[in-house]
Amino acid sequence: MLEQTYTLAQVAANNGSEGSRVWIIIKGVVYDVTDFIDKHPGGGELITEYAGKDATKAFNQAGHSSDASADLKKYRIGIVAEKVPVPAENRYSNQSQISLTPSAKSEKRRRIKFLFCV
Ligand code: HEM
Repeated sequence: MLEQTYTLAQVAANNGSEGSRVWIIIKGVVYDVTDFIDKHPGGGELITEYAGKDATKAFNQAGHSSDASADLKKYRIGIVAEKVPVPAENRYSNQSQISLTPSAKSEKRRRIKFLFCV
């Protein structure tokens, strides 16, 4: 069966406010960590800070053990349907992405075709 998908807006709505659940995103996977908050060895606040948001970098930087990653699996509820934009402060490099113009794209295609023809 296909895995449940969620939009970023749906994840953002589950940020613990007004009795909602607490969802976080780690590497494109959505976790409902509501029942884990009080059990978190690092304290609940570290998790609620990322309620409804992408916590990939914080999760990785905490140097979690493989036990922590195994724990995480229990809370998996689906995946994000959209590409998760990485906030500027979380990017490893501040190099901006180069996107090709339509004419540059067709030139690239032409060159690829050429390579396969000779
Ligand atoms: C949302 C972002 C998260 C942050 C920033 C974070 C941060 C931390 C930090 C700083 C510690 C060390 C605490 C200490 O040494 O006293 C810790 C420990 C731990 N965290 Fe998290 N945590 C997050 C989410 C999670 C999640 C979702 C899980 C699993 C469901 C998890 C599982 C654990 C476990 C099992 C430990 C104990 C040490 C280990 O086995 O790695 N954490 N966390």
